[in-house]
Amino acid sequence: MSNIDGIQSLSLQDVDMVKAFPRGFLWGAATASYQIEGAAYEDGRGLSIWDEFAATPGKVHQGENGEIASDHYHLMPADVELMEHLGLGGYRFSIAWPRILPQGRGTVNVKGLDFYDRLVDTLLLKGIQPFVTLYHWDLPLALEKEGGWVNRGTAHAFAEYAEIVARRLGDRVRAWITLNEPWCSAYLGYGVGTHAPGMQNRQVAVQVGHHLLLAHGLALPRIRANITPTALVGTTLNFTPVYPADERVETARDLECADKFMNRWFLDPLIRGSYPDGLFDAMSVIPPSTQEGDFSIIAAPIDFLGVNNYERRVVLGAPIPPLADEYESVSPIPGSTYTEMGWEVYPQAMTDLLLRLHREYGIASLFVTENGSAFHDSWDGNGHVRDPQRVAYLREHVQAIASALQQGVPLRGYFTWSLMDNFEWAEGYSKRFGIVYIDYPTQRRIIKDSGRWYEAFLAAFRRASS
Ligand code: FCB
Repeated sequence: MSNIDGIQSLSLQDVDMVKAFPRGFLWGAATASYQIEGAAYEDGRGLSIWDEFAATPGKVHQGENGEIASDHYHLMPADVELMEHLGLGGYRFSIAWPRILPQGRGTVNVKGLDFYDRLVDTLLLKGIQPFVTLYHWDLPLALEKEGGWVNRGTAHAFAEYAEIVARRLGDRVRAWITLNEPWCSAYLGYGVGTHAPGMQNRQVAVQVGHHLLLAHGLALPRIRANITPTALVGTTLNFTPVYPADERVETARDLECADKFMNRWFLDPLIRGSYPDGLFDAMSVIPPSTQEGDFSIIAAPIDFLGVNNYERRVVLGAPIPPLADEYESVSPIPGSTYTEMGWEVYPQAMTDLLLRLHREYGIASLFVTENGSAFHDSWDGNGHVRDPQRVAYLREHVQAIASALQQGVPLRGYFTWSLMDNFEWAEGYSKRFGIVYIDYPTQRRIIKDSGRWYEAFLAAFRRASS
């Protein structure tokens, strides 16, 4: 691979890889509202659980928060130009519920809707398809005060909110994602408390999980009734494929439990209409309380499943069955490389996961809605950020999805996480995931080498498809 005029060129292998992708395959990048927007107190935005959590000492790295973040709320037009420059076909972003409904329900803040309306129009002008996530973790604080996701009423409030957004943007948005990673909302937010709202109760987490699933299901028909018939509606789950460390029976037993907990807790009810057998025992909790009809609401057909994957886990059986978040795993794995998050780079997990979703769950349409890596990046003060590890991560994962496609997986698109550096939740600004670097003091954007590689790859894809 060489650099010509500062533009990273593709290797022959990269050019060959392009051929694996069908015409119409959607290449994009993803972000989320609280992580990039900033403007936390502008234009009538209400507070979210992340504003409060970040303001609580000890919760976020160095007490950082999303007040300014990547200042996308103000820099949106320039950011969309950057997307155009990169040649993105799609952009996945999320809507801040508290910008639309500062109190979570009731009075609509029209300025909030106006912002996303402008964003959608700006994207469409540049030929970029908007993929909207309705909930990427920034629950209105007012709803948290009524119990947050522990309260079944929040699921109904979500459906109301979803309808309001769908009515305004539904004529132009290509695809709708109800929730981002409900596993994280439930378990990290209410089970272990490393995310907002910071509760630490595993029993509560499974109830929250059920209400999140219900929120998704209740929102589906209300979204569909208000959008163009050709738009897609789905949801996004996070997956951590698990592999056995050895052949022992204990390992096989723990592997199955870990899989139920990490991968099937949300997938099974959505696709099969029930929780996996033994899931709640494995988590040492009693099943959540449910009402008649919940599972038919939850398992109503979706047009696609969004797949987020970053890493895998190698499970090592313990002498006695462990609790859910205490599965022994092998780390570090000799010979493996790790990102700054401590996540193993293992692209084969992506291929295996996509094959599984297709073969075992029969899912007819998949998008990778997040995949990416954090590394220490440094800007040379000029036009360059050299991030060879991220270039490698990206290339190897594109190769991994190519391999899934060649094996018949109905994968329709890939969104890299993230378009730009941003507020990485409890890690604050210490972890950079962007293919575009943000110099926070000046808010200057610098396309990293990984961004240049993506740009070159997408250009080659467009040439091959024309
Ligand atoms: C995912 C989140 C996303 C980002 C990446 C690194 O779990 O959906 O917002 O933080 O991890």
